[in-house]
Amino acid sequence: MQDLQTLETEITANIGAANDLDSVEAIRIAELGKKGRVSLLMRELGKMTPDEKKEFGPKLNQLKNYLNDAIINRKEDLEAAELNQKLAEERVDITLSKAAPELGSIHPISQVIDEATEIFTEMGFSVAEGPEIEEDFYNFSALNIPESHPARQMHDTFYFPEDEDGNRKVLRTHTSPVQIRTMMGGEPPYRIIAPGRTYRNDSDATHTPMFHQVEALVIDKNIHMGHLKWCIEEFCRKFFEVDNVKIRFRPSYFPFTEPSAEVDIGCTFKNGEVLIGEGDDWLEIMGCGMVNERVLENVNLDPSEYQGFAFGMGLDRISMLKWGIPDLRDFFAADLRWLKHYGFQSLDIPSLSTRTSTIKGSK
Ligand code: PHE
Repeated sequence: MQDLQTLETEITANIGAANDLDSVEAIRIAELGKKGRVSLLMRELGKMTPDEKKEFGPKLNQLKNYLNDAIINRKEDLEAAELNQKLAEERVDITLSKAAPELGSIHPISQVIDEATEIFTEMGFSVAEGPEIEEDFYNFSALNIPESHPARQMHDTFYFPEDEDGNRKVLRTHTSPVQIRTMMGGEPPYRIIAPGRTYRNDSDATHTPMFHQVEALVIDKNIHMGHLKWCIEEFCRKFFEVDNVKIRFRPSYFPFTEPSAEVDIGCTFKNGEVLIGEGDDWLEIMGCGMVNERVLENVNLDPSEYQGFAFGMGLDRISMLKWGIPDLRDFFAADLRWLKHYGFQSLDIPSLSTRTSTIKGSK
C-alpha cells in the first residue's frame, strides 16, 4: 500500500498550484474520480485482510474527505478571485463624470450677446452695465415716463414691495435705464451699448417674462437719424450675414425718444421654422429714435449742443431669426437635446472685446 502521507502532500501541493478551475477539476478527476488514484486505493481495500482494512480504511476515508474539502476550498478561492478581478475590470467611478464635457455648451443667447458685442465694439461702442433690480427713477421717471404715464401700464412691470420711503423698486423693463446711468455718470460724447436681462409680465411664443435687450446710446454734436439708420442696417448685415435683409422703420412712440420708430425685419414662419430675408412676415426687433430733449435735460445736457440716438433691440428675437427657432420659450426650457439639435457647441465662443466697468449712476 502506497504511503498515504506522501500521497496527501503531493496532491495537496498540486491543488495549491492549480491556478484555474479547470486545473482543479482535472486533479479531482485524476485523484477522486471513478478511476482516480484514491478511488483505486479504496477499491483495493476489498482485497485486504480484516486487520489491514482496519488500519487503512479510516486513513483512506480521511484522505478522501480531506482532499475533497481541499478541492472545494480551492475552487471557492479561485471563483472569488475571478469575481473580484471581473468587478475590478468593470469598475465604474461614479465620482468621475464621463458626461462632463458634454454638459457645458454656450447658450444661443449668450452667443448672440457676444456676437452683438463684437459687432458694436468694432464700430466704436464700449459696453456699459446697470442693475436688473432698478429704481423707478432710472427705469421710468428720468426717461420721461412720469407716474401717471400710460406707458407704465404698457410695460407689465414686476414691482418690488414698497420700502419705508414709499419707493418701489422694479425688475427693469428695458435696458434704457442704462442710458440715464451712463449720462449721469460721465461726460459726453457717449457711444455705449448695454446688453442684459429685462423683465415683463408677458408670456407667449414671442414673449417670455425674462428676455434680453441690447441698448445703444450715441450722444455727440451733430448726430442725426441717418447715423441711427446706418448703424442698425450695418449691424443687421453683419449679424445675419446676409446682404438682402429686409428692414422697415415704422413711426412709433416712446416717451424717451422723439421722433421714434420701431424696426421690423422681413421673415417668414414656415413649417415650424422662421426664415430670414424671405416672405411677407415681419418680426419687430427693436425700438429706436432720437433721444428726447426732456431726457437730455433730465441728465443736465443742453439739447441745443448735444443730440443723439438710442435703440433697444430684442436679443431673443434676433436669435430666433438667426437660427430659425420659432418659439422663444424654448430658449429657457434648459433642454440639452434642443441645444444639441441646433448645434451649439461648448467651444463656439467668439472673441470678446474688453468690457468697461459697471457704470454707477447717482441721482
Ligand atoms: N426701451 C424700449 C423698449 O424696451 C426700446 C427703445 C430703446 C426705444 C431706446 C427707443 C430707444 O421697448
